[in-house]
Amino acid sequence: MNIFVTGGAGFIGSHLCERLLLLGHDLIVLDNFNDFYDPAIKRRNFAEVAETARRLGRSLTLSEGDIRDSRFLEMTLGEGEPEAVIHLAAMAGVRPSIERPALYAEVNLGGTLNLLDASRAAGVRRILFASSSSVYGNSPTVPFAESDPVDTPISPYAATKKGGELLCHTWHHLYGISIACLRFFTVYGPRQRPDLAIHKFARMLSRGEPLPIYGDGSTSRDYTYVDDIIDGVIKALEWTGGDIPRYGIFNLGESRPVALRRLVSVLEEAMGMPAQRVELPMQIGDVELTFADLTKSASQLGYRPSTEIESGIARFVAWFREEQRRVPGAPE
Ligand SMILES: NC(=O)c1ccc[n+]([C@@H]2O[C@H](COP(=O)([O-])OP(=O)(O)OC[C@H]3O[C@@H](n4cnc5c(N)ncnc54)[C@H](O)[C@@H]3O)[C@@H](O)[C@H]2O)c1
Repeated sequence: MNIFVTGGAGFIGSHLCERLLLLGHDLIVLDNFNDFYDPAIKRRNFAEVAETARRLGRSLTLSEGDIRDSRFLEMTLGEGEPEAVIHLAAMAGVRPSIERPALYAEVNLGGTLNLLDASRAAGVRRILFASSSSVYGNSPTVPFAESDPVDTPISPYAATKKGGELLCHTWHHLYGISIACLRFFTVYGPRQRPDLAIHKFARMLSRGEPLPIYGDGSTSRDYTYVDDIIDGVIKALEWTGGDIPRYGIFNLGESRPVALRRLVSVLEEAMGMPAQRVELPMQIGDVELTFADLTKSASQLGYRPSTEIESGIARFVAWFREEQRRVPGAPE
């Protein structure tokens, strides 16, 4: 089918596009290649997607533009006539959202609203929305289940992701569009965003710099390998395919939280380099623990993640080394 992917030049988006092409789909990718991190990295990601499309003989169109531009969205969706939209474009990251809350609201709320409405106008019947585990905030019940109340976000980023889910429900209700909101839990793997912990730590380790450990090292994240996330996205896409319009929220995690201090040990082992550590106070907006309850995504989507942190980190490090060899000094 013909699928419209926003944010397709990013970390998760580029992996998703390659998988969709392998599954035989044709793609329209929308991205604005912004400078949240070096746009050259996104150009390289997209070049790899384009190479995959060429090798497989699939159609791939790049629409370079911004989801805040409603007329541009209406035009590209109207011309492309996709059957499904997968919406990954966003301002990501908890800490920067505290610095620039208005920008996060414009892109993650305004942009999502534009996309939903342009999709409606173009007759799209299936949408996936990239939400985040951050909507759970410091939820007292673990693991986090989709039925838990999520009315107490602790960062602008989390609030905009929860808001995006609400908009999705509204467009499902009003226009009978099937929509799945996918709460990704800290995603890692090749092409991981350079601002995220594993990538940042690998870069610092390779330069012999001490690693910042916020808090006492006990904060834990449900690190999820990107291939597992993509499996879940594909299953969610199938889930939206029936005749009856559906709306659902699904956790996509690994359900195996890893403490920060263990993560650093696994990384030291994989890189074969000892780390120096500097203890720093916990950062505002950060949660203590993320931990996905996968009961619903397993039973309704058939989602079964399988990557242990040791093997996922080993694959990340292999990519990181190759990238440093291929593009000296990058990625930053
Ligand atoms: N990486 C994670 O751990 C994680 C966890 C939870 C949720 N998510 C969500 O998954 C999605 C993808 O995340 P990622 O880690 O791949 O991030 P990313 O920054 O690598 O990808 C996002 C892409 O969207 C594009 N984009 C941003 N604003 C845009 C705009 N206004 N118009 C058009 N394109 C725009 C960027 O250029 C980028 O290529 C995001 O919605 C993010 O919030 C990611």
